[in-house]
Amino acid sequence: MNVNSLNTLLKVPTGKLEIPESPSNNRTTVNENIHFSLVIPTYQECDNVRSVVRILSELLDEFIPENYELIVVDDDSPDRTWEVARSLIAEYPNLRVMRRQEERGLSSAVIRGWQVARGRVLGVIDGDLQHPPEVLAQLLRGIEKGADLAVASRHVEGGGVSSWSAVRRFLSRGAQTLGLIILPGVLGRVSDPMSGYFMVRRSCVAGVTLNPVGYKILLEVIGRGNVGEIAEVGYVFCERKEGESKVTWKQYVEYLHHLLRLRLTTKQVGQKSSFPIGRFLRFGLVGLSGVFVDMAILYLLSDPTTLALPLTRSKIIAGEIAIFNNFLWNDAWTFADVSQRQQEWHHRLKRLLKFNIICLAGLAINVLVLNLVFNFVIPNRYIANLIAIAVATVWNFWVNLKLSWRVTDVK
Ligand code: GDD
Ligand code: MN
Repeated sequence: MNVNSLNTLLKVPTGKLEIPESPSNNRTTVNENIHFSLVIPTYQECDNVRSVVRILSELLDEFIPENYELIVVDDDSPDRTWEVARSLIAEYPNLRVMRRQEERGLSSAVIRGWQVARGRVLGVIDGDLQHPPEVLAQLLRGIEKGADLAVASRHVEGGGVSSWSAVRRFLSRGAQTLGLIILPGVLGRVSDPMSGYFMVRRSCVAGVTLNPVGYKILLEVIGRGNVGEIAEVGYVFCERKEGESKVTWKQYVEYLHHLLRLRLTTKQVGQKSSFPIGRFLRFGLVGLSGVFVDMAILYLLSDPTTLALPLTRSKIIAGEIAIFNNFLWNDAWTFADVSQRQQEWHHRLKRLLKFNIICLAGLAINVLVLNLVFNFVIPNRYIANLIAIAVATVWNFWVNLKLSWRVTDVK
């Protein structure tokens, strides 16, 4: 099968990130029904792309000869990875290359590749040889046996990471745990939701508008797709030999953003409680920031070495400023989806007033619970205070959710 006119780059799809039900056939080719399309997203991989294409071609030629295509999707790498890839087309007729100049980002690159793919099964593998190619055969077998999705996992039998630092392991597991709390219906379905090495039946993702942020395309596929049975195959995440990882702190922020977006825009199947746990966590973090603000202002105003103002007056000012701090963060982050739809000043002011009143009531509850618990239940002021803070936090959150940022009112 020759799928290319030599040296042409694929046209980049525009518009929604939606995969067509049936393989695109706007290019006249003999074989419209190839089995497997494997997308290789690349950015600055000029030293890897040649070996990746060679190794994958050799492997797939053996396993499913004439029945696959490789699609390199490069984001206009300054090292001209796309050009190197294009020069390989003559030698590897199943290779197709896309150079994206308008859009950026790993997840959308993968989807753009899938949009032009002709396979019934759509896959993705990193372009830096960190994903061992041999695993492809097992993944394909998983699909053949009936799975909708086959994921290469670091966290099942046979899986692992080669030589990650404790810090990177911790960050990776921490990110997974956070995801489990925010989005259990998605993250709970696979052992390695961070995997960027998997394949899925076209029918499970076709016709759905995907809307990913950042790196973790698998979350999007499970979260929005129609995925039944999932197969997992263990793999060891190898070290990079050439080039370098593009992961920075930005990917962690994007990951959180992605989790929250999925959480807010997809139906969570099999979720018993409707308590908005992600929002609550954000609210709690904001509350914590308020404690620091309160402390700092109290110090500046009342400490004998600074302004030495009376304690009560200082505390009232410090508390008010902390409330204002919390309001700003909650409005911009915790309840961003709600406030974005009501941005006018009078709306904001109204929310601030409500928030303020509710938090003052929260303070009263705090004092009340502290006294009750301390005098009648646990005669330890710190434990009693912890309980009081917890009760007040839940009160603040719940009442603000229902009154200040009314989710049900919008939409
Ligand atoms: N087109 C495109 N655009 N490709 C990109 C971009 C981008 O913006 N950013 C990264 N890539 C490509 C890289 O060239 C590489 O082929 C692949 O995507 C993975 O990027 P790396 O930067 O090498 O990621 P990593 O090795 O740190 O992370 C990998 O590990 C995870 C497991 O923890 C990723 O592969 C994840 O997908 C994987 O799950
Ligand atoms: Mn990598």
